[in-house]
Amino acid sequence: MRRPIIAGNWKMNMIRAEGMNLIRALKQGLDDSVAPEVVVAPPFTLIDGLRPLVTGTGITLAAQNVHWADSGAYTGEISARMLKDLECRYVIVGHSERRHLFGDSDEDINKRVRAVLDAGMAPILCIGETLEQREKDLTWELLTQQVIRGLRDVSEPLVTKVVLAYEPVWAIGTGRTASEAQVAEAHGFLRNLLRESFPAHVANAVRILYGGSVKPTNIDALMAQDNVDGALVGGASLKADSFLRIIAYQAPRR
Ligand code: PGA
Repeated sequence: MRRPIIAGNWKMNMIRAEGMNLIRALKQGLDDSVAPEVVVAPPFTLIDGLRPLVTGTGITLAAQNVHWADSGAYTGEISARMLKDLECRYVIVGHSERRHLFGDSDEDINKRVRAVLDAGMAPILCIGETLEQREKDLTWELLTQQVIRGLRDVSEPLVTKVVLAYEPVWAIGTGRTASEAQVAEAHGFLRNLLRESFPAHVANAVRILYGGSVKPTNIDALMAQDNVDGALVGGASLKADSFLRIIAYQAPRR
């Protein structure tokens, strides 16, 4: 059984008071019986301040990026050891905004994935095609490359801890969600790719999230798809009411 994850990626939003208010509102609205693991990824500046608010609740913390070195002369960077020290459980790695705006290559992303795992946290490895790549029929080749390169030299026991997030770039922040058929096809493809690359018990343990314009109105249909083990939510995670509704998704229990 893969426990679903609903993760909120706050991106470069929120100052301290705003982040605290949002966490307080989430805590108030969450009941103990909530099924998925709830993860929030605030900016680095808020993680330590939010930590006491989430301790002992169902909410766990993630960071949005990480450098691969342990420490050293890397002005402006944050290491996995520092994030572990702040009790982060997850780190988003290879988000399309990092790949496209900041030039993250698959090799860089692989180094980040390994640093996160070595520090005892779990990477949320983001993958996904642009509209141009989809239209040129390059989606499957690209996803294969992003997964295989992203997981290079990761040992099988550690692969089970990796969370994949399929985020078609054309669906991020655009209001345009992939259709149910497109999501089912991509997630099925990814599960098969994992099965071809790793033993079944490893491939079956990896959670595959969907991301890209996830909202209260589409979460139920997304979570009903095979191999959709949760969601990575951007814009709709910045308001307590919409994020709580997404967390409380209604889907047939599998
Ligand atoms: P969105 O962002 O939900 O605002 O489309 C998703 C993401 O970038 O992780």
